[in-house]
Amino acid sequence: MGEQVKVWDLPVRISHWGLVLSFAGAYLLAESDEALRWHVLLGFTATGLIAFRLIWGFVGTRYARFASFLYGPGAALRYLRGLLRREGGAFVGHNPAGSWAIYAILLLGLATGATGYMTYAGIGGGESLEEVHEFFANAWLLVVVVHIVGVIVSSLVHRQNLVRAMITGYKEGTATGAATSMALLAGVAVAAGVLAFWSWALLTGSFSGPAAHERAGQHDGHAHRSAPMNGETGEDHDD
Ligand code: HEM
Repeated sequence: MGEQVKVWDLPVRISHWGLVLSFAGAYLLAESDEALRWHVLLGFTATGLIAFRLIWGFVGTRYARFASFLYGPGAALRYLRGLLRREGGAFVGHNPAGSWAIYAILLLGLATGATGYMTYAGIGGGESLEEVHEFFANAWLLVVVVHIVGVIVSSLVHRQNLVRAMITGYKEGTATGAATSMALLAGVAVAAGVLAFWSWALLTGSFSGPAAHERAGQHDGHAHRSAPMNGETGEDHDD
């Protein structure tokens, strides 16, 4: 085994796996009226993690910075051709094709979060906005599937366990590492931020009402999110 180098700092790993969990949870709970509160909480969590990741892309450690994985389409195609022919080296940071998927994931995540919030808060187009929100979420899922296939294929071709690298932070390589005490602090701050948000939401019973267009009584026979949530019934929320 070659030299191990720290590539993914703590904030990148926490925001990655936090995003995986919140995206998966929000997607799976999207169609249930009873679970709207959890869908909204998970959606806020995913959007918050993406917002943090966007900032970290400018101020984070070497491989977290967008400047370290800005590749043109030509580089992405060359990488994919090399992958098909089982040629070409592995990248210490993100590879050129993977970086395109990552930018798409971040942008679609933001678009999904923004339209989800607008739907919930009743800003804009009601049911049609909800459809736009669902469209972005499905496009997001599609890119995520491509991303996961890409991770598996490049792991196999380059004989490198990329999933383990995203857990431990270490990859094979010889470049300068990415660990700093600032990154450690930022990682702890992200985790604490998510924890604080969930504690606040659960203790105050926030987001337990129906979406705004449901509150306004705009029922059109669309079953999605039509049942009143417990926040509207005057029940206590101490969960
Ligand atoms: C179980 C499923 C998943 C696995 C195994 C996985 C694995 C990985 C790995 C190994 C990387 C690093 C790729 C590299 O070496 O260049 C990565 C990066 C990334 N993945 Fe995933 N991923 C999964 C699901 C997701 C999901 C669901 C999302 C978004 C909703 C996501 C978003 C990202 C992003 C944004 C990055 C870039 C990390 C960064 O620089 O912050 N992944 N993923």
